[in-house]
Amino acid sequence: MASNKEKISITDIEIEQINDSHNPILSNFKSYEKELVDFLVEDALDNQKKQMSITYLWFLKSTKELVAYVTVLADAISLQGELKEHFRQQGILYKSLPALKIGRLCVANEYLGRGIGTLMIEFILVLAQRISKEIGLRFITTDAKRNQEPRKDSVHFYKKFGFEILRQREKGTLPMYKDLIKE
Ligand SMILES: CC(C)(COP(=O)(O)OP(=O)(O)OC[C@H]1O[C@@H](n2cnc3c(N)ncnc32)[C@H](O)[C@@H]1OP(=O)(O)O)[C@@H](O)C(=O)NCCC(=O)NCCS
Repeated sequence: MASNKEKISITDIEIEQINDSHNPILSNFKSYEKELVDFLVEDALDNQKKQMSITYLWFLKSTKELVAYVTVLADAISLQGELKEHFRQQGILYKSLPALKIGRLCVANEYLGRGIGTLMIEFILVLAQRISKEIGLRFITTDAKRNQEPRKDSVHFYKKFGFEILRQREKGTLPMYKDLIKE
């Protein structure tokens, strides 16, 4: 899956929030994670109109091709177990803390392994830091998609960026989080 093609830089990318004008091109997007294509085609715009999430489409400036998308929404982590203890020791006794959730994050098959996933995580970190100046925001969360093939298992991808496992779960996804003010 890793490609030997050149890395893509953020200056090669144009980011747009999804809107009605994008409808005709959404079904051209291809990913080995079918559910993520279905979400983009069927739900992303509708969910945004209902203020349940925002989807950022990533286009290559040179070809206008849709190469990736990321969907974000508000979330909270319920503090339990070790994490609850960790915050208690810092005098933080709340039952839950605010988070920004990566609802979906997907790079098109043809563009995998060229650094776009990394750029999207950086984009979310910048977005989170900005939001945290306006409303309380302590974590980034996600439900990482599991895949039998290690190179397609997104848990490893998120771990690279300092995401930790929130709790084990016997389903197709694993809840993960990143503390925005942890070194
Ligand atoms: C996970 C995903 C977003 C990564 O995007 P990408 O553009 O290929 O990632 P990058 O090129 O920025 O790779 C960054 C690093 O993560 C590694 N990596 C990428 N995808 C990985 C995966 N699925 N598992 C483990 N490591 C992965 C790369 O090898 C690279 O490591 P390196 O810096 O040591 O070379 C992409 O594989 C994808 O869209 N998968 C399908 C959807 C999905 O699983 N989304 C996440 C859950 S919703």
